[in-house]
Amino acid sequence: MRDVAIIGVSQTKFGELWDVSFRDMITDAGLGAIKDANIEGGDLEAMYVGNMSAGLFVNQEHIASLIADHAGLTPIPCARVEAACASGGLALRNGIMAVASGYHDIVISAGVEKMTDVVDPTPAIATASDQEWEAQQGVTFPSLYAMMARRHMHEYGTTREQLAMVSVINHENAAKNPRAQFPMEINVDQVMNSTMVADPLRLLDCSPISDGAAAAIVCPAEDAKKYTDTPIYVKASTQASGSLALHDRKSITTIDATVHAAKKAFKIAKLTPEDIDTIEVHDCFSINGILAIEDIGFVEKGKGGLAVEEGMTRLDGEIPVNPSGGLKARGHPLGATGIAQAAEIVWQLRGEAGKRQVEGAEVGMTHNIGGTGGTAAIHILSR
Ligand code: COA
Repeated sequence: MRDVAIIGVSQTKFGELWDVSFRDMITDAGLGAIKDANIEGGDLEAMYVGNMSAGLFVNQEHIASLIADHAGLTPIPCARVEAACASGGLALRNGIMAVASGYHDIVISAGVEKMTDVVDPTPAIATASDQEWEAQQGVTFPSLYAMMARRHMHEYGTTREQLAMVSVINHENAAKNPRAQFPMEINVDQVMNSTMVADPLRLLDCSPISDGAAAAIVCPAEDAKKYTDTPIYVKASTQASGSLALHDRKSITTIDATVHAAKKAFKIAKLTPEDIDTIEVHDCFSINGILAIEDIGFVEKGKGGLAVEEGMTRLDGEIPVNPSGGLKARGHPLGATGIAQAAEIVWQLRGEAGKRQVEGAEVGMTHNIGGTGGTAAIHILSR
């Protein structure tokens, strides 16, 4: 196996992008990454696209070929990768594996979702849960995460205010991110008084419905300096699976797939949580900002709420979490999220993150999950 580096990244602005089509959005992201990597489109040998549900959101399947054609990349092989909200993380992992194995040299891993064109996106998102046991019974993602939040509050004394702080910190960071969907600061009272979605989760505890795309170019580490002075090296790329349905787990306050993928990633990278300077976690709902830091090992199980309350995850804290604003405030176009997380870590490690720069960041991590944890993908990246 060869070592792999990321030599270029790009992300469109996330939000309600009425004036950009699905195919233009992903092509814009791809062109941005190609430019950032100082390569030509003709240098690409393969493409992996993370996308959860173009069929339900824009009535388009067979998107890999559509994108290759629209971007002028035919005849290179192009494959869609789907694992709900972890589709982007898996697209990155597939690109990394293709280069590591020696099968391809320069690969683009991208992600895209256009969610705002449908009147009600909730049924489409719910297809990522267990149809027979969850979705058909009326369960939605906000309600699944609400159950996880309630249980965490019950078992560990996590407070409503601590959940709100996850969103407050995300918005603080998003206010410094020109690509974020909701770049405004909010306070705890605003979160606690926002519209109830699924008790105890309110509107400002939830990631939004978003359009957006992101892309990353990977190549063998030994070639990376030919293209850029600041390659970012892939120290680990892992994936783990967990039960799709929540009721099949022995605990709903731990996401086992995260625990397994993180442990494996630290082992492969020969690093520990203390070595990580910043991380992008999958906080689709505020409770997951707390579960993630516990399950990855930054704090003990049950102590995540307190850590957030005490400022550990702030930009100037011990472990800055989601400098981009996270899923909550940067936005969460499902298939694009895993790649956008990697793009943010690449900018952080290159020292290009502007006002949201984590000082001296040398090692970063991404955590992307599908559904309530049926899939988890973790990447550890370093300068
Ligand atoms: N954060 C901040 N503001 C938000 C927001 C969010 N998550 N979602 C919507 N808004 C704002 C809108 O911009 C709009 O503001 P305006 O009135 O000033 O224009 C207002 O709140 C109402 O927006 P609307 O689109 O009508 O909200 P909604 O009630 O239809 O949807 C949620 C809100 C939370 C239900 C929806 O965003 C949602 O389902 N989120 C979860 C997505 C999800 O499950 N993803 C997969 C995770 S596993």
